[in-house]
Amino acid sequence: MDTTLVDLAPAVGGAGLTTPAPAPRTATMQVRNLHKQFGDFKVLQGLDIEFVDDAITTVLGPSGTGKSVLLKHLVGLLEPDQGEVLVFGQDIWKATEAERYELRKRFGVLFQDGALFGSMNIYDNVAFPLRKHTDMREDEIADLVMTRLQEVGLERSAHKLPTEVSGGMRKRAGFARGLIMNPDIVLFDEPDSGLDPVRTSLLCDLIQQMHAEHGGTYLLVTHNISAARSCSDYVGMIWQGKLVHYGDAEEAFASDDPFVRQFLAGESAGPLGMD
Ligand SMILES: Nc1ncnc2c1ncn2[C@@H]1O[C@H](COP(=O)(O)OP(=O)(O)OP(=O)(O)O)[C@@H](O)[C@H]1O
Ligand SMILES: [Mg+2]
Repeated sequence: MDTTLVDLAPAVGGAGLTTPAPAPRTATMQVRNLHKQFGDFKVLQGLDIEFVDDAITTVLGPSGTGKSVLLKHLVGLLEPDQGEVLVFGQDIWKATEAERYELRKRFGVLFQDGALFGSMNIYDNVAFPLRKHTDMREDEIADLVMTRLQEVGLERSAHKLPTEVSGGMRKRAGFARGLIMNPDIVLFDEPDSGLDPVRTSLLCDLIQQMHAEHGGTYLLVTHNISAARSCSDYVGMIWQGKLVHYGDAEEAFASDDPFVRQFLAGESAGPLGMD
């Protein structure tokens, strides 16, 4: 007789219940009561946000509200004064240095300027994380790098240096590099900065395409309302160091809430002041 079944029986419930209750799901990325100040200047003042998994969220907020500071906390580059940053349920500042390093590998990050190494061509830039973090052979690396470069339309520029391609191409190269390790989370800090409206919209299409193909929890920070509108599933708004709105993007854009409307319309008249 299989004793395992007998042993398990009480655990699954005696009243005819055969399926145990599902464990409560933990969002991939959560921020709780995050405070951060620099000198006397309080940037984040109790920010709470739980990002919807496997979706694209855009965080909007006026310049200097702490959007980049938030991203740096998520990836573990800045330590909170107070509060928690949970990634896969783990508080990244209670983790050991080694655990934090492992968690960081699950992120793909695209900073404002693409942050490519200027002395390396596009191919080597994209291959860099694989060479650093895996023991893949060069032929395997070549397959993967060329696949990503094709996806972002840069296969013919692989041999070029970052200075030899346009700003939009650098962004796409940064994106290809950000995705090369198959990250579960991808963070973009103003991916549209310095791009004209057509290139911005092409980049948004690419972000959506890649998300549809590879999945993952994407977070985009931008000032660009139309990029937010075309790219995102969810929209978050930061105002005076706190999250003041988080919800479905279409609903936010259709909202009657004067606060949300002013924010999204970028109007000077309304409930939002400058201070
Ligand atoms: N390492 C730091 N030391 C001191 N002050 C900082 C530091 N990082 C950010 N700040 C300050 O924190 C505030 C928020 O900065 P942050 O870069 O997050 O703004 P932002 O919302 O990303 O703005 P933008 O939309 O212009 O990029 C700014 O006033 C900035 O000067
Ligand atoms: Mg910023």
